[in-house]
Amino acid sequence: MSKKTLLSGVKPTGTAHIGNYFGAMKQFVDLQNTHRDANKFFMIADYHGLNFIQNAEEMRRLTLNLALDYLAIGIDPKQSIIFKQSDVSAHTELAWIFDTIVTMPYLMRAHAFKDAEAKDKEINVGTFNYPVLMAADILLYGTEVVPVGQDQKQHIEYARDIALKFNHIFGPKNPQEYGDLIFKLPEPLIMENVATVPGIDGRKMSKSYGNTIPLFASREEITKAVMGIVTDSGGPEAGGIPMNVYNIHKLVKSEEKLKELYAMQKGKYKALKEALIEDLDAFIKPMRERRAELAKNPKKVLKILETGAKQANKVAAAKLEEAKKAVGVL
Ligand code: ADP
Ligand code: TRP
Repeated sequence: MSKKTLLSGVKPTGTAHIGNYFGAMKQFVDLQNTHRDANKFFMIADYHGLNFIQNAEEMRRLTLNLALDYLAIGIDPKQSIIFKQSDVSAHTELAWIFDTIVTMPYLMRAHAFKDAEAKDKEINVGTFNYPVLMAADILLYGTEVVPVGQDQKQHIEYARDIALKFNHIFGPKNPQEYGDLIFKLPEPLIMENVATVPGIDGRKMSKSYGNTIPLFASREEITKAVMGIVTDSGGPEAGGIPMNVYNIHKLVKSEEKLKELYAMQKGKYKALKEALIEDLDAFIKPMRERRAELAKNPKKVLKILETGAKQANKVAAAKLEEAKKAVGVL
């Protein structure tokens, strides 16, 4: 039996926050540790990020930062392949092949496209095409499992649909050969209890809302963010619990302990926030320190990306060749 393959990616578009961590990145590490003998790929989706970051210095800085983030949370380059999307040209090549079988009306149904359209933005082709490049990212590696946050679910469905369509048009016609489908159908892996981490204003935590708690925040930054949490009594059903505080707190402390604490400190928002600062800091501190240590040696980090690119290229080039043969350009 062939090994299971897991792949995920994050765009280097800003400072990682605890929503990214609990919604997606933490699972990368958990899966790495539970799936010792699977192939694991963790990508820096810089070509996707280029839709948002159009400044070379900034792109380089954010890319290195994300590599540091991956390493600091515990992605181990000995067990997983960490690489940058733009280092593996098969991604954009395969995306082009997919472009020729994906229709415009189908892409127009994508949430991200509809959101951009609703904001009356001038949409660039890269944003429109985003799901196609993401399908290429996933399908090139024979990926079965894609750990992501809830908001990425539709993108995985696009990848599945594109794989099905490609296999249907170009794959083996003989049903007995079904075992040799060119592209495997990936599944998303979404942790339900943290599907959407709320921000300090109670909405989804997101860089674009300015409501985040940075994943590697200093004690001062944690304090500032927590003090900024919008407190509400949560209404009668929440029993006077400030839910915006509680919902973040439960990410770093068991609900059993929290129930006790919130009952004891009922109505004392300041004390509850102070307890949250303490618990967040205890949680973040070891990762923050590891990251600071790694940041002292950026050359080493770039070397890890270089090695990762070589490893990823090997797998991706073979699958691209198969796809090119299937369509008849090879
Ligand atoms: P942002 O909304 O801050 O721009 P991204 O779109 O870059 O975040 O998301 C990167 C990854 O983190 C994705 O897999 C996404 O699903 C996950 N993610 C982002 N925000 C949250 C959140 N608030 N709760 C859960 N997962 C999240
Ligand atoms: N679209 C993802 C996000 O915004 C990032 C991404 C790009 C990705 N390619 C991927 C995630 C492939 C999983 C698999 O978070």
